[in-house]
Amino acid sequence: MNAKKKKSRNLKIFSGLFAVLIIVLTISYCTRETTTPMNEKSLIPLPVNINPADGSFRLKKRSVIYVSNGSDKAFEVGDYLSGILHPATGFKLPVKATNKLSAKGDILLLLTHRSLNLGDEGYELKVTKRMITITANEPAGLFHGVQTLRQLFPDAIEKTTKQPGPWLVPAGTIQDQPAYSYRGAMLDVARHFFTPADVKAFIDMLAFFKLNVLHLHLSDDQGWRIEIKSWPNLTTYGGSTEVGGGKGGYYTQEEYKDLVKYAQERFITIVPEIDMPGHTNAALASYGILNCNGKARKLYTGTDVGFSTLCTSKDTVYKFIDDVVHEIAAMSPGPWFHIGGDESHATPMEDYIPFVNRVQDIIRWNGKKVIGWDEIANAELQPNTTIQFWANAENTQKGVKQGAKVIMSPANKVYLDMKYDSTTTLGLHWAGYVEVDSAYIWDPATLVPGVSKANILGIESPLWTETITNMKDLEYMVFPRLAGHAEIGWTPVSERKWDDYKVRLGNFAGRFEAMGINFYRSPTVPWKE
Ligand code: ACM
Repeated sequence: MNAKKKKSRNLKIFSGLFAVLIIVLTISYCTRETTTPMNEKSLIPLPVNINPADGSFRLKKRSVIYVSNGSDKAFEVGDYLSGILHPATGFKLPVKATNKLSAKGDILLLLTHRSLNLGDEGYELKVTKRMITITANEPAGLFHGVQTLRQLFPDAIEKTTKQPGPWLVPAGTIQDQPAYSYRGAMLDVARHFFTPADVKAFIDMLAFFKLNVLHLHLSDDQGWRIEIKSWPNLTTYGGSTEVGGGKGGYYTQEEYKDLVKYAQERFITIVPEIDMPGHTNAALASYGILNCNGKARKLYTGTDVGFSTLCTSKDTVYKFIDDVVHEIAAMSPGPWFHIGGDESHATPMEDYIPFVNRVQDIIRWNGKKVIGWDEIANAELQPNTTIQFWANAENTQKGVKQGAKVIMSPANKVYLDMKYDSTTTLGLHWAGYVEVDSAYIWDPATLVPGVSKANILGIESPLWTETITNMKDLEYMVFPRLAGHAEIGWTPVSERKWDDYKVRLGNFAGRFEAMGINFYRSPTVPWKE
């Protein structure tokens, strides 16, 4: 080779290398451009500890989700993650059981068998350029870690059609665990019926915010929504209408079991509620024998409360309750059965107290623990009975004095059917207007004098559906307030600041949109467009 040719070849090699260098620099610059550091990502609920690092992980078509060998539950979490990532990325990430601790370009879900100081629901999430590792004591922790990972991806990960990517996750480490063990929402399917598909969509929204309880209000004056094989008229007649006179509906036992399973796969416990002795018109209309005069009442499609009561002096009524509880308890893997007990204005107190005492026995004989609205504290509470504070602080204090734990659902903070302000067209406002800031700025542990964190099991946000008839309206009342309630249940009070939260929530606009959620654009929040 002569000198001229050699020079030209060297020049080619040099310019080739130079081009490669430019490409590499461009890619890494773009990468940095498109990844917000981990601690600046808008995470809700805010994790307990976030330590950002340089760089980011890039999910690829060939990435694999590896899961601790030997745990079916952990493997299901892997499948769930693969399913969450599929629509927007188009990747079909395989899930494989493994014993390895390192895998380049992959995601690892590891169970530590209790070596982490993060309880049953906590997790550690570690993102490096090389790999992502979620470690937890229990599968529930892996599941919550997956929800955090989901929020670390760009908003477009929530879309249901294929998006361009790139799928970058900022590097760093998160250690996280919840402040309260019970973090729930309630859906009233009695005033208006919601289909099993609607309930599943709601469950998915709860899972996203790391809630772990769905309380279903399954019966009320306007409708009975759960099939009871030994008392079939409850649904065929008592479930045949709803507020406003629509056709109502009910869940067959097969459908209910499927909902329980769907929730369980998302580490959510369904708490069934059969409200009694009041709020029972649908049952009283289905069976005359439940009334003191033996005559069936008419179906009711209005929105009044406090006018109905089971006949508390009849043995048949307790046989009825035992049958209902028995059939529902048999489909319920969770520990709780909610007996309602609220607004029984048509039941004299001298009848109400022995009624609640006797019903607590029935629930215990059926292997479940009682939850009831705060009025039940007027009875003699048995050990393990939990009261749900919604309106009356005195009742709640009475309950705590009897040793009961409390679920905090103050109507003027967490009732999702309360209007945001005077211009909200949906909802009611008997407990006041509940703007997004007001729904967030409170502490369960200091709200009711004499009720402290040690007395509190957790927090729950009920959605009553007198005015809510479809999922778009449901979403509008639920979001964004439920996101704030989820943070109250999860994040330590010392880390919760409205001025910080409102910015994170404002940044969530794009994610809500990508999820197709119809949320209320509160003027108290700086929404990012
Ligand atoms: C309730 O809002 N009646 C519990």
